[in-house]
Amino acid sequence: MKVSVDRRDGLAAAADVVVSALYERGDKETAFPSVLGEEDRALGGLLRTAWERREVRGKRKEITVFHRTAGKGRLLLVGLGPRSRVDAELVRRAAAEVVRALKGRGARTIAFRLAPFVNEATPAEAAARALVDGVVLGGYEFLRYRTSTEGGVEEVAVHLGDGIAREETGIRKAVAEQATIADAVVWTRDIANLPADTATPERLAEEARSLGKELGLKVTVFDEKKLAEMHCGGLLAVGGGSAHPPRLIVLEYPGGARRGRTVAVVGKGITFDSGGISIKPAPRLAEMKFDKSGAVAVLGILRAAATLKVAPRVIGVMACAENLPSGTAYRPGDVVRTYNGKTIEVLNTDAEGRVVLSDALGYTVAQYRPDEVIDLATLTGAEVVALGDDTAGLVATDEKLAAGLLAASRATGEPIWRMPLTDFHRDLVKSEVGDVRNSTEIPVAGMLTASAFLETFVGPGTPWAHLDIAGPAYTNALTRKWQPAYQNVGATAFGVRLVTRYLMDAPRA
Ligand code: BES
Ligand code: MN
Ligand code: ZN
Repeated sequence: MKVSVDRRDGLAAAADVVVSALYERGDKETAFPSVLGEEDRALGGLLRTAWERREVRGKRKEITVFHRTAGKGRLLLVGLGPRSRVDAELVRRAAAEVVRALKGRGARTIAFRLAPFVNEATPAEAAARALVDGVVLGGYEFLRYRTSTEGGVEEVAVHLGDGIAREETGIRKAVAEQATIADAVVWTRDIANLPADTATPERLAEEARSLGKELGLKVTVFDEKKLAEMHCGGLLAVGGGSAHPPRLIVLEYPGGARRGRTVAVVGKGITFDSGGISIKPAPRLAEMKFDKSGAVAVLGILRAAATLKVAPRVIGVMACAENLPSGTAYRPGDVVRTYNGKTIEVLNTDAEGRVVLSDALGYTVAQYRPDEVIDLATLTGAEVVALGDDTAGLVATDEKLAAGLLAASRATGEPIWRMPLTDFHRDLVKSEVGDVRNSTEIPVAGMLTASAFLETFVGPGTPWAHLDIAGPAYTNALTRKWQPAYQNVGATAFGVRLVTRYLMDAPRA
């Protein structure tokens, strides 16, 4: 999607559709909103008439299209609901709804008038960022296997008009940045949506290599031979049942000009999770191609961070394997020795994410001594039960890191919620056979016992945050109904906007 900023007023635009917005009309409101004066003049007074007759009311999701006799194209007015309830997230959703409504309706180029989207809670820059997100993400579809498509929006411009021309420099920078991030999100979705026959661990390694080439990042891929030499027993065990052997993939972004700390971002990359010998039931098994979402998000984060040249040095680590049952698969009862020497008693082969992450986390901490570690993983069904399809679970051992991620969550609209990690959970993952067990005797607090397991492999002294993204990583035809319009069916690339924002805002010290 081509994204630009134009200083002129939107109504002078050569776009197919000019988009403006209306807040819901209060009961006592009698004055036509002055911010829509331009629109009204362009429509020869029709808009004011429609407003006075209460034909347009600014109700949330109300979309009205006016045709213009003079000037090019249509004017689309989107309702935002009561002004006091509008924030950047609502603008993001509204922009996505507009783009979806225009799909297949001859709107190749669209122009947003920025001023009507600006309000007390959403200054011009934030509104501009939200519009970019909404348009790029809302227009996204996974097209690789489709032989016919309806044309969608290809170009979007944010039009400033006179009122906000002063803030032009800041808005231009914000729009360019957000376009880079949104591009990384759709690029990530394209990889995360690939089925497991195509997106094998080796294919994810190829994606990492080509990203490295494009952006000048160092990329190292450890194949199954190398993993055996390194004693990565977790990755080898989980990947043992598949014809597509596991890979540990490392990408290194050296940091911006004033290089800051080292942040490691680690992702679970199960290209397909059948459950293994502890096999999952058939319904919804197809969704387990999304079990690589954490690792693919790491790719997207590296793409955005390196393109934007964020200050911290960023190490991306992807733990990739396919979890299948076969004569060579690992079994319940097996004990595996991981990279850092700690042993895992396997009790359920479907708790495989924590097993591959044990090697990845152990390796990352030992090799890079990062100042902080953030991992992203579609780790537990318990996360979905606790927090739903839209919110990720956060577990953090460091207050500053947690606060930074929560702030990034508020700024981006990717919801996360912090959960407690206590000795109760740590005790539950102790094993009598090895150091830890990968599933517990009682089925409580599944998200947190998984976290306690992972903590063992980060060890003390390294600030660590775990994001369980099992809920928000993807939507299906059912959950899609309750998701914002910028999450189409399939992979959401959750975490890319959040962690990129965290890295952009991270203190340099
Ligand atoms: N990949 C799943 C978790 C998952 C479930 C992701 C639903 C997305 C949607 C994970 O590997 C898994 O199977 N976890 C088990 C762990 C249990 C066996 C201890 C679970 O949550 O049931
Ligand atoms: Mn599993
Ligand atoms: Zn899994």
